[in-house]
Amino acid sequence: MKVLVATDKPFAKVAVDGIRKEIEAAGYEFALLEKYTDKAQLLDAVKDANAIIIRSDIIDAEVLDAAKELKIVVRAGAGYDNVDLAAATAHNVCVMNTPGQNSNAVAELALGMMVYAVRNFYNGTSGTELMGKKLGIHAYGNVGRNVARVAKGFGMEVYAYDAFCPKEVIEKDGVKALDSAEELYKTCQVVSLHIPATAETKNSINYALLKDMPKGAMLVNTARKEVINEAELIKLMEDRADFKYITDIMPAANAEFAEKFAGRYFSTPKKMGAQTAEANINAGIAAAQQIVGFLKDGCEKFRVNK
Ligand code: 3PG
Repeated sequence: MKVLVATDKPFAKVAVDGIRKEIEAAGYEFALLEKYTDKAQLLDAVKDANAIIIRSDIIDAEVLDAAKELKIVVRAGAGYDNVDLAAATAHNVCVMNTPGQNSNAVAELALGMMVYAVRNFYNGTSGTELMGKKLGIHAYGNVGRNVARVAKGFGMEVYAYDAFCPKEVIEKDGVKALDSAEELYKTCQVVSLHIPATAETKNSINYALLKDMPKGAMLVNTARKEVINEAELIKLMEDRADFKYITDIMPAANAEFAEKFAGRYFSTPKKMGAQTAEANINAGIAAAQQIVGFLKDGCEKFRVNK
């Protein structure tokens, strides 16, 4: 059995070494494709792979067609919008993610970006503090929960809205659960996005939702760029000079945001929420173990294409 790690954005070396150890201890062959520059390299590498570990790498019908021996793909991370689930099911390929394994890293980055923004990108001028500010967590999953934990340490007043998480679960953490996204955005000066990119959420963060945020509003996106209606966010930031957008996922209209909103817009050059050795080790090794469990025992825990 051959297990391929195919990551355009590589894991830390220590994580790759750990994955290799898990795979080889199970008696399987380990292969590595990192920093590939075109899809042909991926198509070639998957040809004889029985299992693949990926990050945000695109696994579409073409890749699945090329991977004739493939049985399982594990997305080492949370969001699996980069995998064509219907095509995987049609190819009889099991798809899993590794929920929770990189969520602390993403949460720490979200808070780090908030500090960076309220301190005026460390430009030496007088900024403001997070303490006492109202933080709205949009979706209370693994990352949202970690954001709440860290934000409470900063002395923020923490609110959350999640369409699928019962209010009692949120409130057990000392977080105020609200009834709608509209209420969350109206209440909170800072909103941190943690929704996945799905047919329902794509383009859902729009002018109507953002326009009622309190004065000095800041939207922090460590989730996905697809959930933002970029044209409407640009319009909103033109209309509201007090609005900041801080993102770990570079918008398609990055150049326009950067040019128009200097001093209140920031994007990392490459998504780096999960770029820590700890998160890479947690997610990478979990992925390797899930593959071994699936191939040896048929374990389908964490399967997402049911
Ligand atoms: C995730 O969905 O797990 C995060 O967005 C991290 O993605 P990455 O592995 O591409 O950094």
